Amino acid sequence: MTTLELITRITVVLHLIGLASLLGGFLTQMKDLKTGGKIVPAMMHGSWLLLITGFALVGMVGASGTEHVDNVLLAIKSIVITAIFFLAYGFSKKDLSTNKWVVPVIGLLAIVNTCVAVIGGIVQSGAAN
Ligand code: HEM
Repeated sequence: MTTLELITRITVVLHLIGLASLLGGFLTQMKDLKTGGKIVPAMMHGSWLLLITGFALVGMVGASGTEHVDNVLLAIKSIVITAIFFLAYGFSKKDLSTNKWVVPVIGLLAIVNTCVAVIGGIVQSGAAN
């Protein structure tokens, strides 16, 4: 394994920890969703970690020379994480009991991005055209 591969894999692990943190913030509040959940710090930290490691991965996959990232899937993931940020920041300081949809929508968007990455196959073999 080359150093670049090792660093890429470590970054994927951090990306997955970010996913665990974001989705965990939603899943641990399932019981409270009837009355409205909260934007907990784990969700904010998870979103930041996903964004930073996501961009780092794009660079490293491109640098490998043997694989490339699907740009359409990358665009979808970027739009989805932007929506997550808008929701998380916009509602983090408000009383969410009147906005019952916010935390479930963030959870759903995190699952959408996971499906885009895993089912869509964001990394493909062969150098970019
Ligand atoms: C809510 C936000 C996100 C979630 C839930 C998420 C989830 C995931 C998951 C589960 C994987 C692993 C897929 C696999 O290896 O089979 C992955 C990989 C990847 N993600 Fe994300 N992601 C998010 C945001 C982003 C963003 C914003 C970017 C870039 C701008 C990004 C770029 C990538 C790349 C390039 C990979 C491929 C890593 C590799 O296999 O080497 N992700 N993502």
